[in-house]
Order: sequence, then structure tokens, then C-alpha cells
Amino acid sequence: MAEIDLLRRYPRTKRDIGKRAHAKTDEHIRIARQYGAEYFDGPRELGYGGYRYDGRWLAIAEDMIAHWGLKPGDRVLDVGCAKGFLVKDLMKALPGLEVFGLDVSEYALVHCEPEVVGRLHLGSAIHLPFPDASFAAVVSINTLHNLPRADCIRALREIERLAPGRGYVQVDSYHSPEQRAVFLDWVLTAQTHYEPDGWRALFAEAGYTGDYYWTIAE
Ligand SMILES: C[S@@+](CC[C@H](N)C(=O)[O-])C[C@H]1O[C@@H](n2cnc3c(N)ncnc32)[C@H](O)[C@@H]1O
Repeated sequence: MAEIDLLRRYPRTKRDIGKRAHAKTDEHIRIARQYGAEYFDGPRELGYGGYRYDGRWLAIAEDMIAHWGLKPGDRVLDVGCAKGFLVKDLMKALPGLEVFGLDVSEYALVHCEPEVVGRLHLGSAIHLPFPDASFAAVVSINTLHNLPRADCIRALREIERLAPGRGYVQVDSYHSPEQRAVFLDWVLTAQTHYEPDGWRALFAEAGYTGDYYWTIAE
């Protein structure tokens, strides 16, 4: 189990915390947690404000392939794959890699990239409908913190079951009270969040032995 930033080549855009257009309300949170059109392609206060493919996952895909030494024919699963951007770029970076995704959002799957049609499964991270040790790697980026704590543990156990020691999860975290305050101001969907030590304790409780890193709001 290693703390490693596999998204280090992901372009960072600093959120301007002083310029949230509208105060966050319970209604914003309720709509965002439906993971429908409003969350992905609606206004910014409900989620992404437009979730479109721009190739930015290709560099991350290359780093993941190198990290696990993946080769054509290996299977990779992306839990919380949304529209399948990373699934598409993993296949682009290594032709012959068998990449699949799973997401709870029917909207995202129906609006997926053409290259991944048929590769994305509708379901929840707490139950991954695949055999034990059937994947060379399982990744889950900015997804597991959206689950309540007990479900987060179930999801981590599922990832571990599918790819023992070969998972990568990235979750919301903070190192300081200031970062925590920024996070709490922005968060819409996350239900489980800790400082890194809290996450490590949760990983240990779940028996998760894969790799991990943090998404820090700043
Ligand atoms: C912040 S988005 C991340 C999408 C993508 N991994 C990325 O990094 O661009 C969170 C994703 O988690 C999905 N999600 C939320 N709860 C889920 C669950 N219980 N099981 C699977 N996916 C879930 C949402 O539909 C959404 O696609």
C-alpha cells in the first residue's frame, strides 16, 4: 500500500473560493447527489458545470500503465467512471488493454464516449459484479468519498477482492483547518472525508492494501 499521486499530471485549476456565484443550499446538494444531467452538464453550482472529454486523462492513463506494468489483454476497472473518459484514454494509451467502468449514474453512461459503449456497467461501488482477482488493476477517482462510511468500507473491500493490492483510490481530504474550511464550503456530494490519517485508518479497517492519494481543495 503506497501513497502515490497518479494524477500528478492532471491539470490543476485553483477554485476561486471568493467567487461562488450562489450560496450552497440543501437543494443544490440534493440535486447533485442524483448524478443526473444537472450534476454533469448543468450550472456550476450543481456540479461540474459541463463534463466534457478533452484528453486530459491520457497522461494519467500512461502513468497508470507504467505504475502497474500493464500489458495488452490485462483487464482494468474504473469505479465511478462517469462518461468513461479515463476508460477511453487507457485504451488509447495501450491498445489491447481491456478497460471497463462502473458508475451509479445512468445519465453519465447514456452520454458516454462512443469508444466505450458496451464497456460501462450501471451499478454501485458497494457491489462490483465481477469474479475475485479478475482485474490487473482497479481505480476509483473522486468517487468513494460520496458514499457513507460503512459503504465506503464495503466498496474498498470490493476493490481489494477484484484486484488484491492493485487498487488506486483518490478521495477528498485536507491537511489543515483552512483546507477543511475550503472543502466544506465547496462540497456537494461527499459524505465521508478525513485528514489522511483518518483515511488510512479506514483503509486498514477495510483491509484495503492498494495505493491511494488525496484530492485537496485549496
Ligand atoms: C466527482 S465524479 C468523478 C468521476 C470520474 N472518476 C472523474 O474523476 O472525473 C464522481 C462519480 O461517482 C459516481 N458515483 C457516486 N456514487 C457512486 C456509487 N455508489 N457507485 C458508483 N459510482 C458512484 C458519480 O455518478 C460520478 O460519476
